[in-house]
Amino acid sequence: NGAGGTLERVVLRSPGGASAEIYLYGATVTSWKSRGKERLFVSARAKLDGSKPIRGGIPLVFPQFGPGDLPQHGFARTRRWTLLDAAEHGESVVAHLELRDDADTRASKWPYSFVVRYTVTLTATTLSTIMKIENADVCEFSFTTLLHTYFRVPAIAETTVGGLDGTLYTDKIRGTAGTREERAQVTMAGNEDRVYADVPGIVTVGCGGQRVSIRRFNLKDVVLWNPWAEKAAEMSDFGDSEYTDMICVEPGTVADKISLRPGQIISCGQLLAVEDTADAGL
Ligand code: BG6
Repeated sequence: NGAGGTLERVVLRSPGGASAEIYLYGATVTSWKSRGKERLFVSARAKLDGSKPIRGGIPLVFPQFGPGDLPQHGFARTRRWTLLDAAEHGESVVAHLELRDDADTRASKWPYSFVVRYTVTLTATTLSTIMKIENADVCEFSFTTLLHTYFRVPAIAETTVGGLDGTLYTDKIRGTAGTREERAQVTMAGNEDRVYADVPGIVTVGCGGQRVSIRRFNLKDVVLWNPWAEKAAEMSDFGDSEYTDMICVEPGTVADKISLRPGQIISCGQLLAVEDTADAGL
């Protein structure tokens, strides 16, 4: 499509009634509906015209997490990706997208030749987003990467994140590092921005009876972020009270860089699964 000045996107519909929407801009998944509920958060003020990274959904952070030589969170989330195909395979529907280096990326502070293939797979109750990153250059390169997943939650005050206990985190707000998470279920009550390193197993996001589990592949770390009222007020593309409806739980490899030799490929990604309990009507 692309009519009416809107950016191009592809909608996936799976057998079993789930759907997902992907903007080619940033290969950003902007909607995931499963069991009749929207599972991802996109701000009502998100820019959907290519003037800014999309505020919500699953922006792809590559090849740099956070600030650095490149613009914040790297260039992948603001490039137009190529849609290779989208097709049904049995119980799932699969889309493949690709990003390669171009004149702009080669002129950037990360000038390497690369290929990122992104596979989005939807079933009735799962969404998987897997990146295959290839070094197509003649020298080694290194990068950080992350799936900046914005979950829609019924109420942040009642939202819990499981699977982080025992791991060490860096608190970017307080400027502390190496604190051990003691809570089996992490809650938020203010602006939080934490990098949990080497998280061992499955992470869950729950609120009332709604629950999504996150399985990670080759993404060791998990970033937890909510801007709360004070940071929300500073963001032009985020409503002042929308922080109550979202939580970012972001699988990535950000504490250490990943290095690839020429020709080497790494696959990394997440599998999100709906695991609502009976009282999910909330
Ligand atoms: C998180 C970072 O991943 O993304 C935060 O840990 C940052 O520090 C947030 O504020 C949002 O970043 P941006 O560039 O999309 O506003």
